[in-house]
Amino acid sequence: MLSFNQFFESEKLNHSPIFNILNDIKNGSILINNILLNGNPNDLVSSGLKNIQEENVQKLDIIANNILLDLFQKNESINGILSEENENIIQGNKKGNYLIAMDPLDGSSNISVNIPVGSIFSIFKKKNSGSSAIEEDFLKKGKDQECAVYILYGTATIFVIALNNKVHGFTLNLEKKEFYLTYPNINIPENGNIYSINEGNIRSVEKEIKQYVNYCKKLNNNGKRTHTGRFIGSLVADFHRNMMKGGIFIYPKTSDKPNGQLRLIYECNPIALIAKYANAKSSDGAQNILEKKPKTIHERTAFIVGSIKMVDKLLNFYKNE
Ligand code: AHG
Ligand code: MN
Ligand code: MN
Repeated sequence: MLSFNQFFESEKLNHSPIFNILNDIKNGSILINNILLNGNPNDLVSSGLKNIQEENVQKLDIIANNILLDLFQKNESINGILSEENENIIQGNKKGNYLIAMDPLDGSSNISVNIPVGSIFSIFKKKNSGSSAIEEDFLKKGKDQECAVYILYGTATIFVIALNNKVHGFTLNLEKKEFYLTYPNINIPENGNIYSINEGNIRSVEKEIKQYVNYCKKLNNNGKRTHTGRFIGSLVADFHRNMMKGGIFIYPKTSDKPNGQLRLIYECNPIALIAKYANAKSSDGAQNILEKKPKTIHERTAFIVGSIKMVDKLLNFYKNE
């Protein structure tokens, strides 16, 4: 089985700036994983603070953000960083050609109850190098991403990357402190039977979403269920399961969250690129996620992603006006 380094050697990328960035992400994720595995209850609680979006910030949100920012700010290729945990963008090396947007810890409300969480990264090139990053540099369409990564800290720790039109998964070997290529060339099944949505929102979502969820709940001629509902509440974990087994993840607009809950640039775009390279599909109900031009750095969007046939089935409800 190829190690992380051997894989990038085989792809002739081991001397590229992208590899150095991925290496920082890898090392950061190992440090975050260690803290999660140590399970010190003092680390796994709320910080008592709220972020600019009025959400509770967990201690580990801050710790993970600091670990990753520290690594990225030492990387000469990285010009600027956008993080869920920082209101403004963070400067890197003026001469660097790359920008990173990240959700350092996804699903953080699950930390204190020992449920999988993740980290998400979107990596893209800066248009003009030699100048400091500005917000405008991050307002790129998802299709312009060079590479996308998530790490799932689950029963095993898995690093999933979308690069050069392919998706690969690496599993962390804790003894060797190294990732190995365990899932080369991942393809999302074109159909599946898992639907993932927070049902607590169902009364305040668009009628098309209600229609699709009702369709998922239909029984077959033998009176058996046709679909199964699964919702962890950590996007990375919900998406990963659906990617491996076939399924659809939906976080629609709700009356509480009229623009949806998930952030376009550092949550939806990287997951959407991974979905695309693994032959699946994403949408906000009206438009492909990867075609959306963000207007602000922390912008939210409705998000539908998963097996092509399931996403198409849902989108058909929007077409049958
Ligand atoms: P984060 O912890 O980075 O703020 O993200 C949480 C997100 C996502 O992971 C999950 O799918 C969603 O919020 C859950 O929202 P609800 O609690 O509204 O279901
Ligand atoms: Mn998140
Ligand atoms: Mn987060």
